Formats: sequence, C-alpha cells, structure tokens
Amino acid sequence: MTKGAQLYEGKAKKVFETDDPELLIVSYKDDATAFNGLKKGTIVGKGVINNQMSNALMKVLEKKGVPTHFVEELSERDTLVKRVKIVPLEVIIRNIAAGSFSKRYGVEEGTPLARPTIEFSYKNDELGDPLINDYHILALRLATDEELETIKTYAFRVNEELKKFWKSCGVTLVDFKLEFGKVSDGTIVLADEISPDTCRLWDSATGEKLDKDRFRRDLGGVEDAYHEIMKRLEEHIAEA
Ligand code: TMP
Ligand code: ASP
Repeated sequence: MTKGAQLYEGKAKKVFETDDPELLIVSYKDDATAFNGLKKGTIVGKGVINNQMSNALMKVLEKKGVPTHFVEELSERDTLVKRVKIVPLEVIIRNIAAGSFSKRYGVEEGTPLARPTIEFSYKNDELGDPLINDYHILALRLATDEELETIKTYAFRVNEELKKFWKSCGVTLVDFKLEFGKVSDGTIVLADEISPDTCRLWDSATGEKLDKDRFRRDLGGVEDAYHEIMKRLEEHIAEA
C-alpha cells in the first residue's frame, strides 16, 4: 500500500490517503506538544516507539474483543488503518489520581481511586478541549446514546486489559486517553493511539514516570523513559 495525498497533519501524526478509500496511512512524528500546543519540542525516536507500541497494544485489545482501526504496520513509523470518522471526544479513564483530576478535586497525585472513573473532553483545540458530560454529548449530537454506551463499555474493557498487561511489565497504569471512530458502516472502533503520549505509566516499584509527563513537566530523561517503557513492553507482549 502506497501513500497518496496528505489528508491532515496533527501535532504528533500525519495522515495520508491510499488507493483504497476505506484505508489510510498514519505516520508518527517525533514532535511533542503540551498544553494545547503552547509547549513544543522533539522527543527523538518517539514516533517509532509510539507507532510500534500502539500497534502491539491494539493487537492485544482486538484479541480481547475491542475492535480497533489497526490493519497493518507498514514500517517503523507508518501504519495502515481503517478510515474512520472520529467521534470528537477524548475518553479518559483513571485508576489513580493525577494531572488535571488531582488539580480539579484537590486530591494528591498517586492517591488510588475507589473505582476507575471515566470522563470526556470535547475535542476542540479552539475551546481547549473542555470537559463535557453525557447530556451535553447527546444534546450536541456528538454521539448517539448507543454509541456512547459502546464507547464506555470498550473504554473500561481497555482499562482492565491494559492494567493487567502493564502490571506484568512492573508498570502501573495510572490513567489514559482514548479516541474512538466510526467506520463506513457505522461500527465504533478504537482509533488514534495508545502510547506514552496518551497514558500515565509509573514504574510499580519506584513510582518513576515512564511517559510524556517527563516532557510536560520538564523532568528530564524523556527519551530514556520512552525507551524503557518500550523495552518492558517488548519483554512481555508475547504473553499478552
Ligand atoms: P489529564 O490529567 O491532564 O487530564 O490527562 C489525563 C490523561 O490523558 C493522561 O494519561 C494524559 C492524557 N492526555 C492526552 O492524551 N492528551 C491530552 O491532550 C491531555 C490533556 C491528556
Ligand atoms: N499534545 C497535547 C497538546 O499539545 C497535550 C498533551 O498531551 O498534554 O495539546
């Protein structure tokens, strides 16, 4: 499959058409941004790691009954995916308080939650991805009731499977962000990526951050953290 016209360039990926109208190629960049693009940088090798990690995890999730956009890894940075219409929601699952949740509710980072939580942000850079609830999503016709229920079911299933997998790597899955899309027949599938850019991953023994918070918070050792988390994945993915 060869790359056709570029359809879109996002903060971390480019998307290309192919000769099949139902398929696209995503190409992962090393560019990193935070705070809605206010902070910009490069994480050398990130595109390769995020591409390979996201594909490996989506393959596991497919086996566990979560349909995804993944079709085939074409190269280190390029992957063939199903063309979807993105549901304009960031779906965030949390197991442990951190980030904006800690700030919003005044809960110390690292506090385990009594049960996993789900929240939604409206994907809209101009508005700064505001938090949105189920009623607003339905009122604005961003998804139907049925689609929203499917998304919630898949998101919690992803959490259970990824928690288990990362535990086997000695890593705690603190929280993560998912995006879903609709393929041409309307089926909801997991889309976008699952990577250290979109998950908080802490070493279970030391609490060390092995994710993009090292970049967001200027903690240093960003590339090392991405390589370390990828190494852990490679050591355990065969058993998943
Ligand atoms: P938050 O605590 O900043 O709301 O982030 C929750 C999770 O979502 C965390 O794992 C990082 C991820 N995330 C993204 O993938 N993209 C984003 O734009 C933001 C703000 C967070
Ligand atoms: N990449 C996102 C942005 O620039 C934010 C993040 O991941 O923190 O808005």
